[in-house]
Amino acid sequence: MGTTQEQEAQPQPHVLIFPFPVQGHVNSMLKLAELLCNAGLLVTFLNSDYNHNRLLRLETTDLHARFTRWPGFRFETITDGLPDDHPRSGEYLNDIFDSIKMITKPLFRKMLVSLRRSSDIRPPVTCIIADGIMTFAIDVAEELEIPIISFRTISACSFWAYFCIPKLIEAGELPFKGDEDMDGQITCVPGMESFLRRRDLPSFCRAKDLDDPTLQVVITETQKATRASALILNTFEELEGPILSQIRSHYPNIYTIGPLLALLKCRLSYSSPSISSSLWEEDKSCMSWLDSQPLKSVLYVSFGSLAVVTRDELLEFWYGLVNSRQRFLWAIRPDSIAEKEGNGQIPLELVEGTKERGFMVGWAPQEDVLVHSSVGGFLTHSGWNSTLESVFAGVPMICWPYFADQQTNSRFVSEVWKLGIDMKDRCDRRTVENMVKELMEERREEFMKSADQMAKLARRIEVLFSEQLT
Ligand code: UDX
Repeated sequence: MGTTQEQEAQPQPHVLIFPFPVQGHVNSMLKLAELLCNAGLLVTFLNSDYNHNRLLRLETTDLHARFTRWPGFRFETITDGLPDDHPRSGEYLNDIFDSIKMITKPLFRKMLVSLRRSSDIRPPVTCIIADGIMTFAIDVAEELEIPIISFRTISACSFWAYFCIPKLIEAGELPFKGDEDMDGQITCVPGMESFLRRRDLPSFCRAKDLDDPTLQVVITETQKATRASALILNTFEELEGPILSQIRSHYPNIYTIGPLLALLKCRLSYSSPSISSSLWEEDKSCMSWLDSQPLKSVLYVSFGSLAVVTRDELLEFWYGLVNSRQRFLWAIRPDSIAEKEGNGQIPLELVEGTKERGFMVGWAPQEDVLVHSSVGGFLTHSGWNSTLESVFAGVPMICWPYFADQQTNSRFVSEVWKLGIDMKDRCDRRTVENMVKELMEERREEFMKSADQMAKLARRIEVLFSEQLT
């Protein structure tokens, strides 16, 4: 009797999920939202107005289909504070940070207060899961006495490197003065002493000045995240166990729930096709092109949702790919070319010259592409979602990190997990050609073997889950 009354007194669990409004963060946090709905929780997903309108406009992003199966799910929207015509690419991340802090934070607080008061259909929010790079949410949650959990969309290894920045400064390893050997060892990140070079630290560490605003944001946000009740990381023990142990000594409440992709696929049944949360229209024509290619013969090329390349870099990649004589599928986002030719179009010679062995799209259905049997390699910017998607698919990588966590991820891919090659800081056509041949031909067996082994570990959740069912 007493138990029933106590249960009745408990508010129904209602989680509010609040991602930083860019593709890589929205993708993984939507997957988490779906998993929590699947576990029977009420979930409110707080999207930026701008991203939400983009999702609604796209034909390939059927959010309605994805979430109508969850009666406990709903979207709320909030402004990111920027005008609609703001570019929002990787070059302008600071603008997003600043405007969110200035404009979105007070609105977020107001929204929580009103969600709390509304006694209508949905009970008040009982827990917030906020993106770990928006720690202002912790201030608001503490003030309103709502429990809060941080979700970091990056790898444990890069999180740990961020965490150690104060130590690196203390030891004089940061800031760089400009004349050091970038291949020199970094000694102050415990667990990485034997392989971490200066160039493998997150790109924000390349700041020449300790007052650099981005470096300061990274330091304060990483330390402040420890005030949340727990930390969720999209990773798994077999991949990052030793680094997770290091983090746990400072931050005991860590939940490793990755790869979210594997968990979600297994919970929602592998047979159902993946439903996209892409902010760009997916060009699915590449799937039938892939169908007509030989087994594991295609190198998939994509630099994610934020990276911007110069026209020269683009051409070097293209010459390298064509000269390697390998088949390739290249996703070039329309807004990813820095020095635009004409009205931002891909140079014509590149499109024409690609037809023989290549295929180009503006935005690919990447998760489906990577698991396609024709794909045998991935030239990637080493964003964490892309890395995990490749690990899950058992596809070896060539890494060309653009910024942030990617410099550290790519070092782990090559030196720790042995899943590919790190092309970091170079992209001349000879290097591209040689590395493509190395990955797709010369060391193919070796990389395929380790990629297969890691994919099995990434999919272990599938095994655990099916054991529970039998
Ligand atoms: C950023 C950071 O770079 C990343 O490291 C961080 O963890 C999250 O935010 P982004 O640069 O976009 O994200 O890279 P990534 O994490 O790889 O996310 C890109 C996502 O877009 C992936 O889920 C990928 O599947 C998807 N994508 C990319 C497509 O669906 N189609 C494409 O053509 C390209």
